[in-house]
Amino acid sequence: MRDVEIVPSVLPADFASLGAECARLGAAGVDRIQWDVMDGNFVPNLTFGPDVIKACRSHTDVMFEAHLMVTDPDLLAEAYVDAGCDMLIVHAETSTHLHRTLANVRTLGAKPAVALNPSTPPEAVEHVLDLVDMVLVMTVNPGFGGQAYLASMEPKIEAIRTRLDARGLDVDLEVDGGISADTIAGAANAGANVFISGSALFRYPTLAEGVSDLRQRAEAAR
Ligand code: DX5
Repeated sequence: MRDVEIVPSVLPADFASLGAECARLGAAGVDRIQWDVMDGNFVPNLTFGPDVIKACRSHTDVMFEAHLMVTDPDLLAEAYVDAGCDMLIVHAETSTHLHRTLANVRTLGAKPAVALNPSTPPEAVEHVLDLVDMVLVMTVNPGFGGQAYLASMEPKIEAIRTRLDARGLDVDLEVDGGISADTIAGAANAGANVFISGSALFRYPTLAEGVSDLRQRAEAAR
């Protein structure tokens, strides 16, 4: 069984105080922090450039991962690694040469991960599973927080976990979108072990309570 990891999206955080928000998330016991990087092209929203992340890097020791919802990840990869991101998540839908893009992330010194939009089948990543530290199965259509969890993604989660285990690959499986107290058990039961939560986590009375409750619910479901 792989460790459960609770990872906040900073989309619901106070954008006027992102450094302090990162410190607050670290103090709440999150396992890492996800930056939803959006270029206004691959998804209809625009968020964090590398300089914003760089400015927050010194506010916490927690690992940063950049979810690159961008049309050209090769163009931006080095800047996000230099900004202090330890992992880069590249969408399978954005790379003409996904195998080379992921290998380049490792060459840059970061951990490569690959993401699948809801309509993208597991087969799209079959030939790069050996290159990544993590697979992200989107449980919403990317672009915005606060959307409803797509339970229809659970068979895909299960299929990818089965493929990883069958090949003996040491790879985490992350889910992102609509993860809350009500939905985390379904995703965990299907085989996910890393859980992105944004709006649901920030709705708890305290972040620490949210991290603890989500972690317990995920562990109980496996
Ligand atoms: C979508 C984003 C969101 C976010 C989490 O592009 O990736 O999924 O991280 O948002 P919530 O937890 O509010 O659904």
